[in-house]
Amino acid sequence: MKKIVVFTGAGVSADSGLATFRDADGLWANYRIEDVCTPEALARNRALVIEFYNLRRKELLKTKPNAAHEAIAELEQWFDVEVVTQNVDNLHEQAGSSRVTHLHGELMKLRSQNNPSLIVPIEGWEQGLDDRAEDGSLLRPHIVFFGESVPMFDRATEIAREADVMVVVGTSLAVYPAAMLVRYARAGVPIYVVDPGEPDTSMIRNPLTHIKERGATGVPKLVEMLKDEFL
Ligand code: APR
Repeated sequence: MKKIVVFTGAGVSADSGLATFRDADGLWANYRIEDVCTPEALARNRALVIEFYNLRRKELLKTKPNAAHEAIAELEQWFDVEVVTQNVDNLHEQAGSSRVTHLHGELMKLRSQNNPSLIVPIEGWEQGLDDRAEDGSLLRPHIVFFGESVPMFDRATEIAREADVMVVVGTSLAVYPAAMLVRYARAGVPIYVVDPGEPDTSMIRNPLTHIKERGATGVPKLVEMLKDEFL
């Protein structure tokens, strides 16, 4: 069974109504990264950081997967599929994808500030400012902030190396090390990009097909192409 690795970014959730980061109306057009997405921000203005992720969690609870997430989940009927996502939403899981690796953390989880392996699911959307983990330390969003290591990256590169086909949906390929994942596909493995914009594909050396459409229409089309090509 062919192995398809699907690498996604915020654009795959755009058709569910969630903001991307770098589009004109993206999150980084309305918030400064240094105010809400760095360890220094969490230390300096904890309330603003907790509120930023509470608002995103509140929005996620009103959101559902779109046709792109659903088509990616359906791929599992015909192929050996692994999803590696930069997204912290759980829409891939909600759509039914069974193997999802989150590079940048998960919105619906919190973790101890003193013990990164003490991770707990959050009920609802609101983390209280002084909520504590069972080790007594303050809880924080289970999110990889800028400047922090990406613990799942090594695992993601192993997954990418196993790909017979790589699909890239809705990422500007602007953030490292995540963007480097496209370089871990073996030579000759075809890479399909679904994005209405122009992600930075300059580092891709493999055969590249760019479906210049929104995920909700482009991914279902790609699934049909992959079935015709590889089944
Ligand atoms: N369908 C598919 N792709 C879309 C859609 C859509 N409806 N709308 C926008 N896009 C594309 C944009 O053209 C862009 O290439 O999605 C991409 C979004 O890029 P970014 O906003 O940079 O998001 P992403 O690549 O996921 O950012 C990577 O940066 O801020 C950090 O941790 C954050 O995980 C995030 C990382």
